[in-house]
Amino acid sequence: MPALPQESLVGVIGAGTMGVGIAQVAAQAGHAVLIYDVVEGAAAKAVSKAMAALAKRLADGKLNQSTYDGIAARMTAASEIEDLTPASLFIEAVAEDMTVKRELFAKLERFARQDAILATNTSTLSVTAMAAGLARPERVVGMHFFNPATTMKLVEVIRGMASDPEVVDTVDATAQAWGKITARSRSTPGFIVNRVARPYYGEALRLLEEGVADVATLDAIMTEAGGFRMGPFALMDLIGNDINYRSTRSVFEAYGSDPRFRPSLTQQELVEAGWLGRKSGRGFYVYDGKASGPLPISEMPAEGKATPLPDGWENMQVSLGPVLLMPTDGRRAADIASRENRPVAVHDLRFGAASGRIVVALSTMGEEVRRNLIASLQATGCSVTVLRDWPGLVVMRTVAMLVNEAYAAMLQGVADGDAIDRAMRFGVNYPRGPVEWGATIGLARIVAVLDAIYADTGDPRYRVAMNLRLAARSA
Ligand SMILES: NC(=O)c1ccc[n+]([C@@H]2O[C@H](COP(=O)([O-])OP(=O)(O)OC[C@H]3O[C@@H](n4cnc5c(N)ncnc54)[C@H](O)[C@@H]3O)[C@@H](O)[C@H]2O)c1
Repeated sequence: MPALPQESLVGVIGAGTMGVGIAQVAAQAGHAVLIYDVVEGAAAKAVSKAMAALAKRLADGKLNQSTYDGIAARMTAASEIEDLTPASLFIEAVAEDMTVKRELFAKLERFARQDAILATNTSTLSVTAMAAGLARPERVVGMHFFNPATTMKLVEVIRGMASDPEVVDTVDATAQAWGKITARSRSTPGFIVNRVARPYYGEALRLLEEGVADVATLDAIMTEAGGFRMGPFALMDLIGNDINYRSTRSVFEAYGSDPRFRPSLTQQELVEAGWLGRKSGRGFYVYDGKASGPLPISEMPAEGKATPLPDGWENMQVSLGPVLLMPTDGRRAADIASRENRPVAVHDLRFGAASGRIVVALSTMGEEVRRNLIASLQATGCSVTVLRDWPGLVVMRTVAMLVNEAYAAMLQGVADGDAIDRAMRFGVNYPRGPVEWGATIGLARIVAVLDAIYADTGDPRYRVAMNLRLAARSA
């Protein structure tokens, strides 16, 4: 199905954070856009505020004149909802409340054109439930933009059980025509991004609770070794611990208290204390404009004899003097050492050779042997962190859980692998989509890591998705 023609009117309802951004995107793509808000004057105020911000960007040379003129000419506040009657596409971005959204759609159905599409920007609510009770539920679809809608590339296109496939196709093509990257998802709790991203926060919180490392060290490991743009704790502080905790709770409850999504007591405590993150001045970190923040724990320069590491050392077993250096397969260094009868260092997963940190766990070894090993790792130019000897370490454990969640979502028909990878790369800026990442690491290794963590913890959150285990077997 082709995208909506540019001459079609787009009606946006709700002139808050998301509504205004979405209206700008549609206007910039060439549509006339009317935006309405239930609070009198709110839409006009929001449009003026958005135009003032754009005027500043224009003055700073960050926006060109024709983009500015286009948005100014085409984005208009409506004072009555009925002014939106000729719209071909309605996008609602009102309060996240099923009753409010249902009432709104029932009202739109009374005056909208027969062929108009009714799209919702909901982050958490069921598109199927929202459409239920309407005379024509087949024209309801999810069009989930990310904040800020003007710059975030991803739009999740959500199919409710009653959605007409042609309507879904049109919305998908339209979002692409607006310059977005789309990922199709079935209407299920958290859709793709808010579900598959849960282990990024959940594993970090657990690693903290298990005493594996502190907040700053875990963040540094995930960014400098894992290649993620922001560490999990800095990101939770940015999102707001209240919002992040609520998202986890809602996915946890919606999936029948599945232990994979179990919320963290540490984060709950932060929320109850009002330590919400940046917006309250304190979360996992303190934001007082003064403190430079805690530093990650790294080894001091070791005065040992460095042995150069061979090319490709990250993916193979290497003998460094008496030490066996190997990538983590989920087993603890001590367990491998007792089998191999020699000292062992396991290193964490790293994203790309350019990553700046090497993370290792060590079996018992003599002081000099340790010094020489650390000196050899430091000779690569990377910072070195020695962690507790813990199954799967940090990056590998987190990535294995992201891969597992992506497979669980595929198993349940939420989305296909390509859509999941696009969603995670462009919705939350992951360095690689989890499905592609799993293939690069090797699915057998991912399964081994999860099985090892499961064996050591007994926690059912680490059970392997059936399709992942089968794919690993046949890979
Ligand atoms: N903020 C985000 O990061 C984000 C991201 C993706 C999706 N969403 C979803 O987008 C929607 C809007 O979120 P937001 O952050 O823009 O909220 P917001 O509170 O900033 O704005 C909501 C606006 O809707 C108006 N409104 C409420 N009920 C209305 C009604 N019946 N008719 C017309 N206007 C009404 C309010 O007056 C308000 O101006 C929610 O469903 C939310 O879950 C939010």
